[in-house]
Amino acid sequence: MVVSDKVKDMYTEEVFQPHSAAFRADPYPTYAALRQLPGLYYYAPWDMYLASRHADIRQIASSEQFVRQAPEALRSKLTLQGSPAETRPNMPYFERYVASNLLEKDGRTHRRLRQAVFTDLKLKNIESLEGRIRDIASKRLSSLAHQGVMDLLSDFAVPVSVAVIAELLGVPVQDQDSLRMYADQITKAYEPETEEGALVDAEAAAKSFSELMTEHVVARRKAPKDDLISRLAAKVGPNQDEDQISLDECITMCIFLLNAGHEATVNALGNGVWALINHPDQFAALSEGQVTVSAAVEEMLRFDAPLQLFHRFAGHDTEISGTHLCAGDKVGLLYGSANRDEMVFKDPNSFDITRGAADHMAFGIGEHLCLGMHLARLDLRVMLEVLLEHTDFLVSPDTTADYRDSIVFRGLKELPLEC
Ligand code: HEM
Repeated sequence: MVVSDKVKDMYTEEVFQPHSAAFRADPYPTYAALRQLPGLYYYAPWDMYLASRHADIRQIASSEQFVRQAPEALRSKLTLQGSPAETRPNMPYFERYVASNLLEKDGRTHRRLRQAVFTDLKLKNIESLEGRIRDIASKRLSSLAHQGVMDLLSDFAVPVSVAVIAELLGVPVQDQDSLRMYADQITKAYEPETEEGALVDAEAAAKSFSELMTEHVVARRKAPKDDLISRLAAKVGPNQDEDQISLDECITMCIFLLNAGHEATVNALGNGVWALINHPDQFAALSEGQVTVSAAVEEMLRFDAPLQLFHRFAGHDTEISGTHLCAGDKVGLLYGSANRDEMVFKDPNSFDITRGAADHMAFGIGEHLCLGMHLARLDLRVMLEVLLEHTDFLVSPDTTADYRDSIVFRGLKELPLEC
């Protein structure tokens, strides 16, 4: 079945208004409306189809028919599409060290790059970090106690998760403020619409970040340590057919892990704690030990996912839920909407930490399933446990939620809490 003209008329109604204040505050009613439409929703300003149903997203993200790299023959068409950072006419460092990360790759190259970090990020190896994460989080919270009020995000979640991922890679403490700043500037370039100034900042950040990581990689090749940069640096070689990686791939991977390794975790904690604040019954169940902290973390991730939108290109002509797609068409995967799909989750708009939200898509699905999910889950569980032990943190001084102006990243601008 191909979507009829009658249905297309529905699409011209303003169902999707990503720049409205209402959408930024709460995108979920819009997603619910999108899920009711047959087929995929076409959003002309981005020349992008949007997949909002769990089943459609699962099908697209799990299918080899959909790719991250647009088919070669269609590149010229695509320079007219996409976010400014994707067309990047004057962003050579961004192009070389940020945009060429493994998330943008397909097939063999993607598998080789994934394999290069897979062992370090698998559950068995990540579990051993628990004590160290607890130590970092406890010390950080104790150092804030005298303030009386803290911003959960900038005072606690950011420094803790940056310190954890930086230590895992082997980036020294004195570089951690710079990498936070670079990461911030780089992520702003990922919005479907980005201002010129933000792109200039992103390019400058990509240049400085790549210079810093080059120094570390070169130093570790000469004198390896027991850290992820050293293990990646040891894989650098000319034979990429034999599972080696190039120097550029190594630097790019370090930058990607340092960015991906904290940004979403911070927002997941903020969104999740905000949900707990607004659902005192759930907080009571958690603090009384009726539900494990791990279960609460899963529901926090489902209920208000920190990463809402990723895209794929159709590699061939194909059809999804009756919508015909041509090779090169771009499809946005609304993971945040999949997590509220009534076909999968009972009463999806209620925040229920007892539900056991096993099928949520906060970490994506398919070939690009998040490689950092074990670390993210551990970071989130430990940070929440430390908060629960040390403070009545759910006392929030007259806070109202103000979400960042972003369509891709969903997170609060700040979350002041008593401490
Ligand atoms: C709550 C925190 C996190 C969330 C919600 C999250 C979410 C995601 C999602 C949705 C994807 C897939 C994107 C797609 O389908 O196109 C992804 C990919 C990825 N994430 Fe995470 N992530 C988190 C934390 C982390 C951390 C801590 C790390 C690093 C240690 C990390 C490393 C990666 C990597 C390397 C990929 C690319 C995988 C690939 O392309 O094969 N993430 N993440």
